[in-house]
Amino acid sequence: MKVYLVGGAVRDQLLGLPVSEKDWVVVGASVDEMLKKGYRQVGKDFPVFLHPKTNDEYALARVERKVGLGYTGFDFDASPKVTLEEDLLRRDLTINAIAQSEDGTLIDPYHGKEDLDKKILRHVSLAFAEDPVRILRIARFAARYKNLSFHVADETLILMRQMVNMGEVNALVAERVWKEWERALQEKNPEEFFFVLESCNALSVLLPNFDVSGVGIKALSRAASLSADADVRFAVSLFTFNLDQAKIICERYRVPNNYSELLMLLIKHYQDYQSAKKLSAIHLLEVLKAVDVFRREARFKKFLFACEIIAETLSELNNSEWLNQVYLAAKNIDMKAITAKNLQGNDIADLIKQTRLAAIENLIDDV
Ligand code: CTP
Repeated sequence: MKVYLVGGAVRDQLLGLPVSEKDWVVVGASVDEMLKKGYRQVGKDFPVFLHPKTNDEYALARVERKVGLGYTGFDFDASPKVTLEEDLLRRDLTINAIAQSEDGTLIDPYHGKEDLDKKILRHVSLAFAEDPVRILRIARFAARYKNLSFHVADETLILMRQMVNMGEVNALVAERVWKEWERALQEKNPEEFFFVLESCNALSVLLPNFDVSGVGIKALSRAASLSADADVRFAVSLFTFNLDQAKIICERYRVPNNYSELLMLLIKHYQDYQSAKKLSAIHLLEVLKAVDVFRREARFKKFLFACEIIAETLSELNNSEWLNQVYLAAKNIDMKAITAKNLQGNDIADLIKQTRLAAIENLIDDV
């Protein structure tokens, strides 16, 4: 049997980038041979194994054949007869289809190195079309390597459009979409993810109402230049959605709470953020409560940050400093004095509220 390093590790090493995960392909071996050598089988769908010591992933070379719509319908052959070239041929991009043998030699039948040099994201073969997740992957790679001047090859874009026309994107599983979307949000240029999806017509299927020339996309690129927080990036990018649209999208893709909650807060309370300096103490305390700031301070900071990015994008007011002062005034009330009164139940809550209101009113009077 022969073992080759493949995929992202070879690609990133050639790009001079750090390699986090190593994937290997094994040619000329059977499942039994792998098990005998102590590898642990993990793949549900394909014969994939973990190395007994390094825990790296070793997959038997395979060819795949699509038998149904969407992501689920696959048939595969991973017999010891499958060659390295055949395995590389079924991969998504030429830059992901370079193998490296144990002595360091590159095996690159589909000219991935040339595409790396030319900065092109190009599909290897028509087998690309067998996996619709690849549309999202390509958009994500574009987001990741935009700063290195990579772009999607025209012929790949055409193929992606054909896949969208065939209804492949409608058949994508929610979890897969979210996984790629979330990863794209963590890349250097997350806005590129949406541009690529738009250019292959997938965006209107995946995210109706998302406007790639709108405030959301500008705010997203601003957010990405300022912070790595994926939840802030997510929230500002969907800022123009109304509450119903946001809810539908978050439910459809089972977006985790930390993302969806921040988005909802931003949509609901951005106008309060804008008018914060004109609001009464009662209204300000209501906003603080709605944001649940006394229990969720870190999220409040993210809310302010997201509002700042939107405000900057729209050339509107930055009221973060003021809202933070309001919060601190309400938070730093003398709780010992309140407890010392030995009140019960609602009376305590009422006194806390009145004391907070008085503190905010004092602050307003001082300005
Ligand atoms: N691959 C593919 N089609 C997919 C998923 C993966 O062709 N839908 C192939 C590609 O050759 C890819 C390799 O499997 O390089 C490993 O996949 P994965 O670990 O998901 O991605 P990486 O390319 O390693 O990229 P990342 O840095 O994002 O992990």
